[in-house]
Amino acid sequence: MSSPIKMILDCDPGHDDAMALVVAAKHADLLGVTTVAGNAPITATTRNARIILDMIGSTAPLHQGARRPLVAEPKDAAYVHGESGLDGADLPEPSRPADSEDAVQFIIDTCRKTEGIWLVPTGPLTNIALALRTAPDIASKIAGISLMGGGTFGNRTTAAEFNIWADPEAAAMVFDYGGKLIMSGLDVTHKLQATPERIDKVRALPGKLAGVLADLFVFFSDVYVSRHDNMRGGAVHDPCAVLALTHPQLFTMKDQHVVVETSGEYSRGMTLVDMRGLKERKDPNCAVVWDVDAEAAFNVIVESIGAFSS
Ligand code: RIB
Ligand code: CA
Repeated sequence: MSSPIKMILDCDPGHDDAMALVVAAKHADLLGVTTVAGNAPITATTRNARIILDMIGSTAPLHQGARRPLVAEPKDAAYVHGESGLDGADLPEPSRPADSEDAVQFIIDTCRKTEGIWLVPTGPLTNIALALRTAPDIASKIAGISLMGGGTFGNRTTAAEFNIWADPEAAAMVFDYGGKLIMSGLDVTHKLQATPERIDKVRALPGKLAGVLADLFVFFSDVYVSRHDNMRGGAVHDPCAVLALTHPQLFTMKDQHVVVETSGEYSRGMTLVDMRGLKERKDPNCAVVWDVDAEAAFNVIVESIGAFSS
């Protein structure tokens, strides 16, 4: 039995970030959680991370990070996650403050002193880019970066997925960092939907946590079903970035070259995947995740929730 993967989860909770936290706490060696502005302003995403960590009884270090992108103007996703960033459930007040407001230094320090750590960003890539720019040495120290973001289509614009669109300059730095990179984009995350039958499995678990997370799934899914032509539930994006490391057997990935557009009038924030059947195509810099055994992956999410809900 191999030892759990060491990781820092960099997130913007966010309903699906919350589920990623639960899965990481159960199946990874969660060395820390850092927050970034994205789905909601930094104070909200940090508060939400504190609440989720409380609810699962995690004492993982929590450090607040960037309150705005490197260059872009701050934008949120309240139209999906609500004004709080985690609307739709009766949540407790957080019990503990963040350990610091310097997530970037925490990421740098932890990467320097820990062999084989993965960085798992599930929000805009601002913190990760700042850490790599401040301490370029960590690029060769970390095991890699497994991110949720991008894809061959967008959700915030025609071309761009929210995490990349929110901070394209940061994303471009991450995709160019030179180390191992796994991209779980919309092509795979839209295949992992919180359908009513799957939410019922969460609801059927014992304990308060399961009820709260089922309520969050319902809120999140109602938004997705109302906004999309043919979806039966919310796309459970962020756990894919964790599961691609903890349960790689559930995913199909392909090494390909991906570049981030930072200047296009209509394509800013787009991740351009080189899918040409040409030998002259660019060398891969990323493992692009294309497919998932959705039933099995969602069952891991259910089992992870069950482990903390009693
Ligand atoms: O586009 C989906 C991504 O943007 C997810 O990470 C969601 O939480 C938001 O951050
Ligand atoms: Ca997120």
